[in-house]
Amino acid sequence: MTNPTLATIAERFSCRGYEDKKIEIEKLTAIARAGLQSPSAKNLQPWRIIVIKDKEVVDKIDAAATSRINANLPAGQEPRKNIFFDAPAVFLILKDTNAQSNWVDIDCGIVTQNIALAAHSMGVDNVIVAMASHAFLSDEAEALKKRLDWPAGFDFGMAVACGYGNTKKEPHEIDWDKMSFV
Ligand SMILES: Cc1cc2nc3c(=O)[nH]c(=O)nc-3n(C[C@H](O)[C@H](O)[C@H](O)COP(=O)(O)O)c2cc1C
Repeated sequence: MTNPTLATIAERFSCRGYEDKKIEIEKLTAIARAGLQSPSAKNLQPWRIIVIKDKEVVDKIDAAATSRINANLPAGQEPRKNIFFDAPAVFLILKDTNAQSNWVDIDCGIVTQNIALAAHSMGVDNVIVAMASHAFLSDEAEALKKRLDWPAGFDFGMAVACGYGNTKKEPHEIDWDKMSFV
C-alpha cells in the first residue's frame, strides 16, 4: 500500500552534499508552515522556528560548531570539514524553556520531522543536524544569537539543513524486529 505521504516518508534520506542554489522563498515558507502545523502536548506550541536563508549566517554557525567539535575530538578521530554540508538554508527549531510541559523535546522533534518531510515532498533535500548545538555553546554563541534575533527564554532544539542535493543515498534499512502486533 502506498500514497503520496507514505512515499515521502519512505523516500526521505539524510542528504550530505548540496548545490550552490538557493531555495525559493515560497518553498521555505511552506516548509515553515508545515513545522508550525505540528501537534503539541496541550497545544502549547512550545517552539520558535528561525529560517536562516542567508548563507553567510549558515556558514558562521557551521564554522563555530565545527571548530568546537574539532577542539574536543576523541584521539584518532578525523577533524570534521563542516556540519551543514554547504546547505544554503537552515531551519533552527528553538524550544521554550518556560513551557509548562514535560513534552517540549517531543513537540520540537515533531516540528523537526514535519520540516524534513515537507521539504522532501517539495524536492528540497535535507538533513537533521544535532551537531549545530555546538555553535550555541561556543565562544561565538552570543554574537550568533544576536544576529539571529534569538528570543529570550528559548534554547536550541534542533537544526535541519536544506537545499538541492548533489549527493544521494538510500534511506536507512528498516528493521521489522522493532515492531510487533498484538
Ligand atoms: C535527532 C537527530 C540528530 C541528528 N544529527 C545529525 C548530525 O548532527 N549530523 C548528521 O550528519 N546527521 C544527523 N542526523 C541524521 C541521522 O544520522 C540519520 O537520520 C540516520 O543515519 C538515518 O539515515 P536516513 O535519515 O538517511 O534514513 C540526525 C538525525 C536525528 C533524528
